[in-house]
Amino acid sequence: MTEKDQMKKRVGEYAATFIQPNTAIGIGTGSTAYWMILALGAKVREGFTITAVPTSKATVELAQAHGIPLATLNDVDRLALTIDGADEVDPKLQLIKGGGGAHLQEKMVAAASDRMIVIADEQKLVDRLGKFPLPIEVIPFGWKQVQRRVAALGCPTSEIRQRDGRPFITDHGNYILDAHFGSIADPPALGIALHEIPGVVEHGLFIGLATTVLVGRADGTVDELHRPG
Ligand code: 5RP
Repeated sequence: MTEKDQMKKRVGEYAATFIQPNTAIGIGTGSTAYWMILALGAKVREGFTITAVPTSKATVELAQAHGIPLATLNDVDRLALTIDGADEVDPKLQLIKGGGGAHLQEKMVAAASDRMIVIADEQKLVDRLGKFPLPIEVIPFGWKQVQRRVAALGCPTSEIRQRDGRPFITDHGNYILDAHFGSIADPPALGIALHEIPGVVEHGLFIGLATTVLVGRADGTVDELHRPG
């Protein structure tokens, strides 16, 4: 296992210790959330009672394989907690998510949660968001119109995510436009502007959602960052 994978495993397993029994929680998507889900599955096998709302089809499959009882977002009023990964984390705990193309459901689940714990290795910490291309889920119809509007917001380079030589299709049948902003001066303002574009389903800026970030460090420790004031 690489050092990076070891950081992901450590932080994912550590995050599982924050889950309280007899609660409903959101479970994220990706290679860091993978370890949290495995650790949760081990707890369930020992008799731990939990209901989990998954954030993607991949997470449904993984959770089912590990015996975790699942519900949909429509089955619950609120979730006590969501634990999910991220692609970038800034000092205000603003995030870029969607590297796995699941940020639409991830954001809906996080927004329905009292707390969001983000699990990340230290390489995801940045001073300013935007080096990681911002994933924007778009309706396939007329996506080039969206691309033009994204360019007008200061992002001349963007492309439709590909998989096996074809557009990647999200769990909800849409495309992902990966937008290379480079550096995002005002993430909340950009998030609002993106929602003004017809054809944008959801973007990967998570503003005011993460309450805690658990950071896996190369030296084997896990740091806890809390959202400032
Ligand atoms: C999926 C996501 C993931 O949380 C994000 O891409 C981080 O993934 P990983 O833990 O594999 O680095 O937003 O849509």
